[in-house]
Amino acid sequence: MKTIGVIGAGQMGAGIAQVSAQAGYNVLLSDLDLEHAEKGKAGIAKQLARAVEKEKITAADRDAALANLTCIGDVSEMGSCDLVIEAATEREEIKRRIFENVGKVLSDTAILASNTSSIPITRLAQAAPDPARFMGVHFFNPVPVMGLIELIRGLATSDATVAAVEGFGKSLGKEIVHANDAPGFIVNRVLMPMLNEACFALGEGVATIPDIDTAVKLGLNHPMGPLTLADFIGLDTCLEICKVLHEGTGDPKYRPAPLLIKYVEAGWYGRKTGRGFYDYSGETPVPTR
Ligand code: CAA
Repeated sequence: MKTIGVIGAGQMGAGIAQVSAQAGYNVLLSDLDLEHAEKGKAGIAKQLARAVEKEKITAADRDAALANLTCIGDVSEMGSCDLVIEAATEREEIKRRIFENVGKVLSDTAILASNTSSIPITRLAQAAPDPARFMGVHFFNPVPVMGLIELIRGLATSDATVAAVEGFGKSLGKEIVHANDAPGFIVNRVLMPMLNEACFALGEGVATIPDIDTAVKLGLNHPMGPLTLADFIGLDTCLEICKVLHEGTGDPKYRPAPLLIKYVEAGWYGRKTGRGFYDYSGETPVPTR
């Protein structure tokens, strides 16, 4: 593999583009338009500059990574890609439209993969040009820091596709795990009930926001408390994944916490909107309850 297309230059897409460019791949990065893609690249440049300052990489490494990264205005320019990774908004109709558009230009051997955290891969494959060359490749946020990729094959995914994407993931220095196309795959199946339970605990007045976070952070040695992590992921995304687990399994144990639903209804999505369980408008996050 030489050329990787990344569709979506937000938090996840930019991270995937960054690690791919740093691993020496030619990366084509697209978003709604060229301006959005360039904004993603500017964020990557900032991350790389910080890594140079901390002496984690050299200035030459930074320059090489940035030289590997080209922003494009339209997915129709992805005809030269060996692998295209879609990391757009977690909405099925948006992903389907993207697959249709990029499908018009993909070569007969190119692989299309989705970074979806919850939408069933076999269902999404129906919108791909070739379901045998389609699979899930789930990265974690922040992509440059997190060492894992979950690979998810759909019913029709070929062994050759899985092997090629596994080889790509390993070349980024990531550990690979394989999950079946079950709701939430592995990580979100385990993580979301914990985050949701923290929302139940808060809603039921078990403890305050900082005490719930401190308890889990220090009591379980997690890097972040569950409410901080939910804000970091995005409460809208957490709710979507809870719904997928609930609807996909039919098990009431996955029902979303009323407080999580309320926060999303209020537009308090977490860090990305400046307010979730914490208010992010100042220097340091302030608990909102
Ligand atoms: N990009 C690149 N590097 C980053 C970064 C980013 N966005 N954010 C932090 N880092 C790096 C820092 O540069 C720092 O590196 P050094 O130690 O080499 O200097 C290191 O990560 C630690 O960062 P900080 O000291 O700033 O802060 P921290 O120690 O609190 O760590 C954290 C920050 C890495 C995010 C840590 O809190 C953590 O691991 N949190 C949990 C993250 C997590 O669970 N992610 C998965 C979410 S689920 C998901 O993504 C999938 C889904 O489908 C929902």
